[in-house]
Formats: sequence, structure tokens, C-alpha cells
Amino acid sequence: MTRAILPRHIAFIMDGNGRWAAKRGLPRVKGHERGADAISTIMEELRRLGILEATFYALSSENYERRPAREIRRLLDLLVRYLDSQAETLKRERIKFAVIGRLDPLPAEAIAAIRRASALTAAHERFTFRLAINYGSRREIMDAACALARARASGGQAPERASEPDDLRAFLYDPSMTDPDLLIRTGGQSRLSNFLLWQCSYTELYFTDTLWPSFGKAQLARAIEFYARTTRKFGAVR
Ligand code: IPE
Ligand code: IPE
Ligand code: MG
Repeated sequence: MTRAILPRHIAFIMDGNGRWAAKRGLPRVKGHERGADAISTIMEELRRLGILEATFYALSSENYERRPAREIRRLLDLLVRYLDSQAETLKRERIKFAVIGRLDPLPAEAIAAIRRASALTAAHERFTFRLAINYGSRREIMDAACALARARASGGQAPERASEPDDLRAFLYDPSMTDPDLLIRTGGQSRLSNFLLWQCSYTELYFTDTLWPSFGKAQLARAIEFYARTTRKFGAVR
């Protein structure tokens, strides 16, 4: 595989943890735990391959609002433990940790763990590891549009004037985030579930039945081979 056809940024919709656990007669949280292990495996492989950025959908705003409080609490506990357990690796490998989503409603311990990991890695540049937590794309676009309008108004410029679509980027949750080249969704559904709707305008989409806790290096290689075979045209004629 040559470097030129590697995606720069891969986004993951990590679906299927609950079904992975149910198949084994285990509680759903066990699926989430194994799902966290899968993130580490994939992260290591991404770095080995020379990919520079990865964004993982860990919790949607709809999950946060609609799932039983107990499952959400256990997921957020797992998040805290996971981030703390990764501190060494993030430091050693110079990985920058970033997050997108609305953090305000989260429990204080979760916010603190996110802040710790972000502060620890703010100066890192080798790889960006991003988690989407309590994230909803429609909300992000709405928040960004309002912030853009406010900025234009306070600059004395009408919001509708001189707006390029790309002007919105600076107001998204993480302005440094590049558009994903490849999006991988595990768990058998072919939908985006309110993930990165703006950023994925020209992203190659790869759907697999593999449940997230079973998604490993071999499955990642298949997704990257799929990416390498596609011709990206961005609306132009090739
Ligand atoms: C994805 O797995 C993880 C989260 C949404 C937090 P699910 O929990 O959605 O697992 P399934 O889809 O029920 O199998
Ligand atoms: C998408 O999975 C969200 C995450 C993986 C975090 P869901 O399981 O919430 O998606 P739907 O409900 O099947 O669309
Ligand atoms: Mg699901």
C-alpha cells in the first residue's frame, strides 16, 4: 500500500457494542469495555500506517438523552478510566487528544478527565485522537451558525454578506479538524446517526457488519483497501 492513497483522517462510528455483548450473554457495558480496547488496537495500527488523525463517535447527543441513565453513567465512568489509562501512551507517542460535543451537561468527573487529557497533550503534534462525546451534528451546525452570525454582527457586518460555506469551519467544535477522508461504520447499519454531517460532504463511506468490539487490524485493512480503490472527484471530471 503506498502512502499517497492512505486516508489522512478516518472517522469511526463505533456501533454494535450492545449486540456484541448480548450474543455472549453479557451485560451491554461489557461490550462497551471491549469497545474501548478496540479503540486502542485501532489507534496503534493507524499510527503504524502513518494516518494522522482519527475521530471516534463515542456518545451521540441522542444516546445521552434517550438511553437509560445507568448505561450512560457506566459509559462515562468507562470514559474516565479509559482516558486516565491512556495518559502514558498519549505522552510517549505525542498524541494530541481532542473532543467534540457539548460537554456542559456531563458529570464533573467526566469533564475533569477530558480537561486533564486535553491539557496534557495540547502541544502534541504527531497524531490527533478525537472523541465525539454528547455530540450531535445538527446541534454543532446550529451552534456554529449562531456563533458566525454573532461574530459578523459584532464586526459590523451583516451575517448574510460575504459568506463562503467554508467560513463556518472556524466556528465548529474543533476548528483544527480536517474533513474525514474515510468514514467507517461498524455494526451493520448504513446511516450517519447525526455524525459529522457537514464535514463528511465528500468523505468515502464504508459500512461493515462487524460489531465494533470485533473490529481489528484485518478489518481496518479492508476498509483502507476500499478507500484506495475509490476515485475521489469532488465534483470534477476525471
Ligand atoms: C455503540 O454501540 C456505542 C454507543 C452508542 C455508545 P451500541 O451501544 O449502540 O450497540 P448496539 O447498536 O446496541 O449493538
Ligand atoms: C451511533 O450509534 C452513535 C455511536 C456509535 C456513538 P447508535 O446505536 O446510537 O445509532 P442508531 O440509534 O442505531 O442510529
Ligand atoms: Mg447502536
